[in-house]
Amino acid sequence: MNISRKLMLIVILTAAEVSITVYSAFEIAKGAKFHQLNFLHLKYTHQLTKSVKKIENDLPIDINTIESDIVLIRQQPIECIEEINPLNYAVMKFINTEQTLTICEKDIEIADKTLLSVTQYKKGELSRDDFLLNLNVALVSFNKHSEMFEEPIRKTVSFILMTLIPLVIVISFFNIIFISYLSRTISSSIRNLTLLLSSKPESNINLDDELDIKTSGELKALVIAARQRIKNDLLNIENSIELKEIINSQTASLQQANDELAQFAYRASHDLKSPLSGAKSLAHFVIEDIKAGDTEEASRNALVIYQQMEKLETLVVDILLLAKAEIGSEDRDVIDFNQLIIDMKERLTWLMKDNPCTLETTINLSVPIKSEKARFAQIIENLISNGLKYYDRNKDSPYVRCDIFNEQETFFITVTDNGMGIPQKHQGEVFDMFKRFHAQTSTGSGLGMALVKKHIEYLNGEISLQSSDKGTTFKIVIPLDKLI
Ligand SMILES: Nc1ncnc2c1ncn2[C@@H]1O[C@H](COP(=O)(O)OP(=O)(O)O)[C@@H](O)[C@H]1O
Ligand SMILES: [Mg+2]
Repeated sequence: MNISRKLMLIVILTAAEVSITVYSAFEIAKGAKFHQLNFLHLKYTHQLTKSVKKIENDLPIDINTIESDIVLIRQQPIECIEEINPLNYAVMKFINTEQTLTICEKDIEIADKTLLSVTQYKKGELSRDDFLLNLNVALVSFNKHSEMFEEPIRKTVSFILMTLIPLVIVISFFNIIFISYLSRTISSSIRNLTLLLSSKPESNINLDDELDIKTSGELKALVIAARQRIKNDLLNIENSIELKEIINSQTASLQQANDELAQFAYRASHDLKSPLSGAKSLAHFVIEDIKAGDTEEASRNALVIYQQMEKLETLVVDILLLAKAEIGSEDRDVIDFNQLIIDMKERLTWLMKDNPCTLETTINLSVPIKSEKARFAQIIENLISNGLKYYDRNKDSPYVRCDIFNEQETFFITVTDNGMGIPQKHQGEVFDMFKRFHAQTSTGSGLGMALVKKHIEYLNGEISLQSSDKGTTFKIVIPLDKLI
């Protein structure tokens, strides 16, 4: 039985006990009322006796007092009949005291007759002696009835006392025992649950199984609801922690992007400024040379301006490429790497012309690679051009080698050279914008490796490098699923 039913049972039992006790109190009080009525009956009979005595002593008849005494005498048997309910009647019948009712009825009947005599006497239809006789007969009956009434009433009242009081005691006793039993079962289930919940997590108790065995009803529902609530709260906390982490990491990456952008703006304007101001001064010289008629000097300076402008163009093109690297394009197609290498070589003719390096490329792909061709062209061209630019003049057979291949689910590009290498302390900065470590060796914007890195990140890949004075290897790894 669940706790609410047990509590309901306790309430019902207590209510029943209180009702029976109150009812018994009323019934017991009723016994006293019967005695009180009989006492009043005797009192009014005695008053009437005194009036009758006066008549017998030839005193004048106080008819009104006599009439009111009879009315009063008649009232007690009426009240007595009204008090007796069907249960009382059944009890009276059971213990043979139902003659009480008959006594009352007879009393009322005699009182009615006597009142009739009063009326007749008042009208002069009855003589004084007959009236006196009637009154004496009535008095005898009233006295006799009062005496007769006492015994059955005493018997009835004592029966009620003898039955109701033990009944109340038995019921109270039963209630105490049963309610204590119910309270014990309630408190023991609460105690069991408390013990179960306060058991240490390492005690190997399976809470779900134990809950099934040891609890039921509302307690079980309460624990399940509480656990669910705690679970939800924990989930909310986890979510808010996760959310905080996401916000923190996004703030950090935004901050980084912001810093990069500020640095980029500074470096880009700086790098754009020097060829521009150089060209401006040279243009001034050219004008002076032409004015002086020195066309040879003028054309030499114009050539320098041209070279400066070429540098500027390369820088601007690289900046544009870098800006575009993070923007995806719909222009995806199967890449013909052989053609891509041929085109690249053509574009690098200026670099390869007087370059002692051998350039070797291998392509070994078992699946077609589908992506934006421009990205791969820029990646490969930058890596190879660096290998060519930063070759080691002190080595006999400088070379650059590029391998493009796939293994299972991964696509690889490796570019190896035996060039001058990148100083150990700068290897972490190779992919930063405008970082150049061999500025004297060759020209460049310092944006090539930053561009390569951006492309690789866009393709969800990774780029790593190994470098020493023996040479440098760049290794690119891209998951194939991004390329099909
Ligand atoms: N293969 C390489 N061998 C030696 N140094 C390299 C190589 N690749 C890159 N570097 C170094 O990294 C710097 C950054 O490269 P990059 O971003 O391509 O700029 P750059 O315009 O100078 O080529 C280069 O200036 C160079 O110092
Ligand atoms: Mg470069």
